[in-house]
Amino acid sequence: MTKSYLSIEQVDKSFARTGSTTEVLRKVSLGVEKGEFISIIGHSGCGKSTLLNIVAGLTDATSGAVLLDGGLVDSPGPDRAVVFQNHSLLPWLTVYENVRLAVNKVFGRSRSAAERHEWTLRNLELVQMTHALDKRPSEISGGMKQRVGIARALAMEPKVLLLDEPFGALDALTRAHLQDQVMQIHATLGNTVLMITHDVDEAVLLSDRIVMMTNGPAARIGEICEVRLPRPRRRVELVSDPTYLRCRSAVLKFLYDRHRLVEAA
Ligand SMILES: Nc1ncnc2c1ncn2[C@@H]1O[C@H](COP(=O)(O)OP(=O)(O)O)[C@@H](O)[C@H]1O
Ligand SMILES: [Mg+2]
Repeated sequence: MTKSYLSIEQVDKSFARTGSTTEVLRKVSLGVEKGEFISIIGHSGCGKSTLLNIVAGLTDATSGAVLLDGGLVDSPGPDRAVVFQNHSLLPWLTVYENVRLAVNKVFGRSRSAAERHEWTLRNLELVQMTHALDKRPSEISGGMKQRVGIARALAMEPKVLLLDEPFGALDALTRAHLQDQVMQIHATLGNTVLMITHDVDEAVLLSDRIVMMTNGPAARIGEICEVRLPRPRRRVELVSDPTYLRCRSAVLKFLYDRHRLVEAA
């Protein structure tokens, strides 16, 4: 059997606290191919961020393994860049400096200062933020901060881009704009993306596959929905597309059925 580019294999995760153990994930396995855009959706607290953090190398799995491009993931690394819901820009650095810092860290030895400058600008261009190079995070909007966070992640040339509800804190219009930008970037660069979301439309619009997680404790992958919609995708046209609507209702049904389980418990 040939391995996927990113391979999550039989991952279990329990958190031990004094006297009690919470089993968060049980036997989670998922293969992601190079260039694929995967969304993970599930009810709050089911373990989505825990799974993403294990792939990022920020959290250790209790058992099981994550392999990326043939290598074992056991610590954080620039080949797995993460964008969180709340931007993690350094407040004392400008937009340019925030991205440049990451570029220096990853390419400090391999590229000249001029090349690193160009590369910093190129990635800020991708998210249309070159108009605000000298602004500090406190001087730009939430959507802009997320765009800078995405530029910083992309600038590291990660093998996989990990997005944990990247648009979750944004208003609907800003979110739509950023979704379109991320789709455009994915089309241009062909990145491999693992994105957590709780927005069903966002998942269907962006993904090649939607991974649906069951409720915790001991969450697993319940179903996977393949989104067989051609790209480029345009949200306005998709509203009435039968494939779009079928995927959307499959995911909604999965979540709704489990919502009732939560209420009954
Ligand atoms: N460091 C930790 N220590 C103990 N429990 C944790 C820790 N991180 C997460 N959990 C628990 O794991 C479960 C899943 O959390 P999380 O992965 O953040 O869920 P989601 O992202 O799906 O909302 C929750 O019950 C949470 O309380
Ligand atoms: Mg989370």
